[in-house]
Amino acid sequence: MKIALGADHGGFELKEIIKSHLEKKGFEILDKGTYSSESVDYPNFAKEVSKSILTNEAKYGILICGTGIGISITANRFRGIRAALCGNTTMAKLTREHNDANILALGARITGDVLALDIVDTFLSTDFEGGRHQKRIDLIED
Ligand code: RB5
Repeated sequence: MKIALGADHGGFELKEIIKSHLEKKGFEILDKGTYSSESVDYPNFAKEVSKSILTNEAKYGILICGTGIGISITANRFRGIRAALCGNTTMAKLTREHNDANILALGARITGDVLALDIVDTFLSTDFEGGRHQKRIDLIED
């Protein structure tokens, strides 16, 4: 499974940690940057990762900025993107089951590395439940 990663300078270090964690688990990674701690603008990375999901280049995306807020706001401007900012594993599980979220957003200045990896693992291993939730997703996209 291919996962697209994107982060600004606030999320750069956590992106690198997630990247090596997922590579060790056998995931294919599409790293859309940023590639250093130099200050950059988070919307650019949200756009690149969103596009890679919408073109089926990657199945899921993970976006990281300082809070996870700006980068998720940007991603959710794209029709078909459902970016969920998660601060715990319950949110990650439920957003996959109920919202069929296709992007996980994380706040590197809010969520510690160990918890962030648990959130990532939960997000990537939980399936959409469909049923009544599909109708609600259709309403979002309508
Ligand atoms: C960058 O300083 C910071 O504003 C950004 O990472 C993010 O938290 C925005 O929502």
